[in-house]
Amino acid sequence: MTTMMISKPSPLTPTCTGHPTYTQSLPCTEEAVGIARLSVAATLHAWGLEDLVDDARLIASELATNAIRHVTRRIPDPEQRGCFRLKVERPSDHLVRISTFDRSRTIPRVIEASETAESGRGMAVVDAVSCRWGIDPKPWGKGVWAECATPGDLP
Ligand SMILES: Nc1ncnc2c1ncn2[C@@H]1O[C@H](COP(=O)(O)OP(=O)(O)O)[C@@H](O)[C@H]1O
Ligand SMILES: [Mg+2]
Repeated sequence: MTTMMISKPSPLTPTCTGHPTYTQSLPCTEEAVGIARLSVAATLHAWGLEDLVDDARLIASELATNAIRHVTRRIPDPEQRGCFRLKVERPSDHLVRISTFDRSRTIPRVIEASETAESGRGMAVVDAVSCRWGIDPKPWGKGVWAECATPGDLP
């Protein structure tokens, strides 16, 4: 007699056939912006999405800069501030979503910077180069995400 057993998959069993997601935890220091840019570019090259590298790198740069600068300003204690998380994913074949997650619940907004202002253009840049962007509120902070699509595949 044969006994049929249904075993639970081990946590290491691959169960999904969709696109992989890249995620990385980074310290809230200025050097992390460069690392975020490199990580996003390397991920997109690995996926063969060369057309999106420049825009995705720019988005990562602005979101990472904000995650570091504004969280550092609002949470001066480095113990409380923790790290921020970078995430790069492919919701579909031709779409890339770049997100940062930080511990501040303050929501980013597009501000109108004056001609002479030295800051205040980051979210305007994200708004301009992405096809859409948004917020993912969390009890401990928020995610900020922006998506860009390969030319000819805008949603
Ligand atoms: N990750 C963030 N956490 C908290 N506030 C943010 C964040 N990103 C952006 N903001 C808010 O949105 C505003 C606009 O951001 P941005 O256009 O990048 O300009 P800047 O960073 O130069 O002030 C910021 O001044 C800040 O008030
Ligand atoms: Mg900024």
